[in-house]
Amino acid sequence: MSLSDAARAVRENAYAPYSKFKVGAALKTGSGAVYVGCNVENVAYPEGTCAEAGAIAAMVAAGETSFVEVAVIADSPSPVPPCGGCRQKLTEFAERGARITMLTTKGIAQEMSVEDLLPGAFDASHMDES
Ligand code: THU
Repeated sequence: MSLSDAARAVRENAYAPYSKFKVGAALKTGSGAVYVGCNVENVAYPEGTCAEAGAIAAMVAAGETSFVEVAVIADSPSPVPPCGGCRQKLTEFAERGARITMLTTKGIAQEMSVEDLLPGAFDASHMDES
């Protein structure tokens, strides 16, 4: 199964009764393992979690901490870009050169590097003492 198909499949399990906007995400690591996640909403809206966060949690729970590729899919008119918070979360675990493919359920795809998603990202070097 391709990474895009893994994201498409897990999207079906999204719990999105409030926004009705189901999102699926799939991460592939250097070992070839694939981890998936979907958005999980809550009646207390800010407690909901994004699909990307779910996939990252699954990867870390399985003992891996970096990925080389990520696919995100939603039923939107154009490929859905990760929200700001997810850009920071993805950046934390992306290997250098990691790619993201954003997809619509109708098959429109857009690909770019994870680095380009978050130019000027805050990283650990910013906490060095000057
Ligand atoms: N959502 C994601 O899961 N990932 C994104 O990158 C964008 C937004 C979810 C959060 C919420 O459950 C729904 O989409 C509407 O914002």
